[in-house]
Amino acid sequence: MSKEIVLSGIRSTGNLHLGNYYGALRKFVKIQDDYDCRFFIADLHALTTNPDPNDLHANVKKILAEYLAAGIDPEKATIFIQSDVPEIAEMYLLLNMHVGIGELMRTTSFKDKARKALGLSAPSESDDDEAFEKQIIGSETNKRVNAGLLTYPTLMAVDILIQRATKVPVGKDQLQHLELTRRFARRFNSFYNVDYFQEPYDFDFGGAPVKVPGLDGSGKMGKSEGNCIYLIDEPKALRKKVMRAVTDEGPQAPNSPMSEPVANLFSLLELTSTPEVVQQFRDAYADCSIRYGDLKKQLAEDILAVTNPIRERINDILADEDYLRRVVKQGAEKARESAAKTLADVRQIMGIRKF
Ligand code: TYM
Repeated sequence: MSKEIVLSGIRSTGNLHLGNYYGALRKFVKIQDDYDCRFFIADLHALTTNPDPNDLHANVKKILAEYLAAGIDPEKATIFIQSDVPEIAEMYLLLNMHVGIGELMRTTSFKDKARKALGLSAPSESDDDEAFEKQIIGSETNKRVNAGLLTYPTLMAVDILIQRATKVPVGKDQLQHLELTRRFARRFNSFYNVDYFQEPYDFDFGGAPVKVPGLDGSGKMGKSEGNCIYLIDEPKALRKKVMRAVTDEGPQAPNSPMSEPVANLFSLLELTSTPEVVQQFRDAYADCSIRYGDLKKQLAEDILAVTNPIRERINDILADEDYLRRVVKQGAEKARESAAKTLADVRQIMGIRKF
């Protein structure tokens, strides 16, 4: 029996951080034996934020080396680069015919990225969608919100649907995009009265979706937030970052509620340490004997135990250009084969016929 298809990708916008690792990469490695896995580098998605052309390829290479160093085995999983599969770009155009600009404008990630592109501050309670839309439409050309940013979810849906994937391991921040993918798949099926696309779901092995917090006290760890611990961080730099993480003045009474920055440190500890260590610090917090310095030291060492072996492999892999080339060539061939088949079906279903 053929294995169920799993697909996921990471944008090539810099080195991978702990959020990428726990939200995505670690899961990729765990499931590669049991599923037909396809993991890719989303370089077309990276273009939505207009990176410097001189950086793009190096960033793709970095992620590729990090995938391999973290343990994705190209003999088990298909590893490919999004732009090596031109069928994706064509199907993106076709699927866009069934996607509403209103639903795209309402996605959280679009609102966040559009705000950043326009140099606006984070949304406040009083922000209304109408005013925001006016700002987008009226924006000057030097601060525009590009259409690629708007149609980002279409491209992501195509990545998934073109490979006929049903399971998509991602972090919590991508769940809305997956919801849209399901909606687009249903809409396509119902518009053409076919039962072609299956609806894909998040793949978290029964656990809760992961949101790795940053070190700055609030929100998630993210490349553009400047609050990341990278897999490639040298031990000294990593320890320094952790020691500088935001905390508070400490619990003032037994069993006090935790502030967000401290709760975030505990979340990181839960991901990287043993349950016994976490409990020990929770007890210390509850009876007010906790010393945040000790917590941070422990956290830094436990993170290093995860990242050290990966970091050591990354540089060796990066130096082996021939190997990297072989991996992506083989991956592109496999990914294109299935993408071409889906695209041919989609063209047929939509009524595009050859003379
Ligand atoms: P990207 O590149 O922003 O992130 C890659 C993966 O890392 C996860 N992630 C996190 N998980 C938990 N906590 C965090 N702080 C954190 N930060 C990042 C993300 O959830 C994601 O799983 N649109 C996608 C890339 C993509 C894709 C796809 C994914 C394009 N096409 C098709 C799956 C299927 C993105 O921008 O991820």
